[in-house]
Amino acid sequence: MTDHYTRALAAAAYVRSMHRAEPRLAIILGSGLGNFATQVEAATTIDYGEIPGWPVSTVEGHSGRLVLGTMGGVNVVVMQGRVHAYEGYSMNEVTFPMRVLGLLGCTAVMVTNAAGGINKSYGEGALVAISDHINLTGTNAALGRNEPRFGLRKGAGQRFFDMSDAYSPKLRKLAHAEAERQGIPLPEGVYLAVLGPSYETPAEIRAFRVLGADLVGMSTVHEVIVARHMGIEVLGISLVTNMAAGVMDQAINHAEVMEMGRRVEAQFTSLVKALVPQVAAATAQDARTKDDCEARG
Ligand code: HPA
Repeated sequence: MTDHYTRALAAAAYVRSMHRAEPRLAIILGSGLGNFATQVEAATTIDYGEIPGWPVSTVEGHSGRLVLGTMGGVNVVVMQGRVHAYEGYSMNEVTFPMRVLGLLGCTAVMVTNAAGGINKSYGEGALVAISDHINLTGTNAALGRNEPRFGLRKGAGQRFFDMSDAYSPKLRKLAHAEAERQGIPLPEGVYLAVLGPSYETPAEIRAFRVLGADLVGMSTVHEVIVARHMGIEVLGISLVTNMAAGVMDQAINHAEVMEMGRRVEAQFTSLVKALVPQVAAATAQDARTKDDCEARG
C-alpha cells in the first residue's frame, strides 16, 4: 500500500499535469464563500473527484473544485469546498488537500471559514482575523507516524512542532492594515474547533467563552496544524454567519449559515483579493531569506 506522502505526491503531479504554473498562495474557501473562486483569472478548474486520493465532500454548499490561475498577478490555487472530520473522514483524509497544496509549492495559505460568534461584540456578518485556536475536536491532524518529507521549509517536518505563532502575526498585520484602508471592521479572535456535526449547546458555548474562545466552528484547525508542520505561513479569516448557541434566543440552521456568505460576499472579496499580492510578497520574501540562509550554510 502506498503511503500518505506518496499519495499526496501523486495528487500534486496530477494537478501539475493540468496546470503548469506553480502556485505561491493557497486560499481555502469556507461555507458560503465558494463564489470567491470566480475571481481567479486564466483559471484551470479541476473537480476534486478527478484528483487521485483527494477526498470529496458530502455537504451541501461545498462545491468540491480546485481552481488554479492568477489573482493580482500572483499564481494562486483556490479550494472551493473542503471535507470535514464530522463526515467520517480520517485526519489523513481531512488534511490531504493541505499536504498537496504544500507539495505544489504554496508558501502561504489563507484559510477561511464560517463560524458561530461567541464574542458578543461581533455582529452577524462580521469578518474576524483568527489570532489563535483551541482544538477541542479530540484529535490532531499530525496523528500517526511523523513524515519528515512533508517538511518543505527549513526546520519543518518535525515530530513535535511549534504552534505559538500558528496564525502569522505579520500576515494578520497586513490584513488589519488593508481592512482599515477599505473601511472594513476586522477584529481578532480565538477560534475554537469542535468535531460537529451538531451545533453546540448553550452550556457548551458558555463554557467555551470561559476558555477564551471568540468563535466556534468545525474546520480549519487540522489544516492549520498540517500547514505549520510543513512550514507554511497561515492567515485565517472567519465569517461570523450566526451568533453561537444561546447568545441569541434563536436556533441555528445551515441554510442561514450559507446565506450569510452571499450577504458579505462583496466585502469578503475585496478584502481577500487585495490581500493576495501582499501576502504573496511577504511570504516570498521569507522563502528567499531562508533559501539565502541555506545557500550561505
Ligand atoms: N457552530 C459551529 N460551527 C459553525 C457555526 C456554529 O454556530 N456557524 C457556522 N459554523
